[in-house]
Amino acid sequence: MEPILVTGAAGGQQGSTGRRVVETLLRADRPVRAFVHSDDARAAELKDLGAEVVVGDLREITTVLPAVQGVRRAYFTYPVTAGMLDATAAFAAAAHQESLERVVAVSQLGSDPHAGTPHMRRHWVAEQVLDRAQIGAVHLRAAVFFENLRVVIDHSGELALPLGSPDTVLPLIAGADVAGVGAGVLLDPGEVEPVLWLAGEIRTVGEAAEAFGVRYVDVDPDEWKRTAISLYRDEVAVEHLSHLWKMFSDIGSGHQLYQVTDTIERFTGRPPITLREFVAG
Ligand SMILES: NC(=O)c1ccc[n+]([C@@H]2O[C@H](COP(=O)([O-])OP(=O)(O)OC[C@H]3O[C@@H](n4cnc5c(N)ncnc54)[C@H](OP(=O)(O)O)[C@@H]3O)[C@@H](O)[C@H]2O)c1
Repeated sequence: MEPILVTGAAGGQQGSTGRRVVETLLRADRPVRAFVHSDDARAAELKDLGAEVVVGDLREITTVLPAVQGVRRAYFTYPVTAGMLDATAAFAAAAHQESLERVVAVSQLGSDPHAGTPHMRRHWVAEQVLDRAQIGAVHLRAAVFFENLRVVIDHSGELALPLGSPDTVLPLIAGADVAGVGAGVLLDPGEVEPVLWLAGEIRTVGEAAEAFGVRYVDVDPDEWKRTAISLYRDEVAVEHLSHLWKMFSDIGSGHQLYQVTDTIERFTGRPPITLREFVAG
């Protein structure tokens, strides 16, 4: 059986979705080609798990083309940092050349040409590029990862965010559920809708802080930005998050996209992971 290609396979700070997809596919006895950015300890672990590991840069077509050879299905993820559209274009071109039949790609819940953050708008452009490559793209439009809140709490001991009222509502999800749906879609032989909206839990920021057992502290947006630069060390991530928190703060009490549907259960066979389960670990 041909391997399934998984990018972002080493996992990272955001949701480690690629790493989790690798584990689920291997547990289902599917051969996996794991695409990693560097040949480090995480790559060695993937080899120990039984994956074929290829090293490359998703922005560089010379490393992407050989990675898709002999593959029919792939998982595509690229973190919130510079180069996402370069990587998407390279991946779409290579996948088109190899006539892939399904590419499951991670996107964001509010992906739209007029979305409130520049990176969310880039995600919408990325979706268009993948769609036009005719590679059976399925877009996972995911809510805010629980992991994203944990990074803030690990840094300051509080849920310190520029979100205004503690009643500001956040659509949330576990990285593991995004990966679970991704793997489920890759293993599903049938038709799948091209866009899947994924949220596991809708909570106010006050409730989210309570689930973590910490205080919610409303921070001045400029002060948050200054702290965020030292926390994320990535200008694109800080730009995205600054706009994202403002967007949620402006929306306030809810939005039509803030819905927990049966999609997670449909592809993972279990209900969404709750924030309390995530915190309990
Ligand atoms: N965080 C959130 O709240 C949230 C919410 C909704 C949607 N999303 C979406 O989730 C996606 C990111 O999730 P994730 O779980 O994949 O992130 P992650 O855990 O940070 O993993 C990213 C992986 O990509 C690899 N990578 C980075 N640059 C690369 C390059 N140039 N070439 C090859 N590999 C590269 C990293 O490897 P190295 O570590 O070795 O560089 C890492 O293994 C993004 O599309 C984001 O928009 C995030």
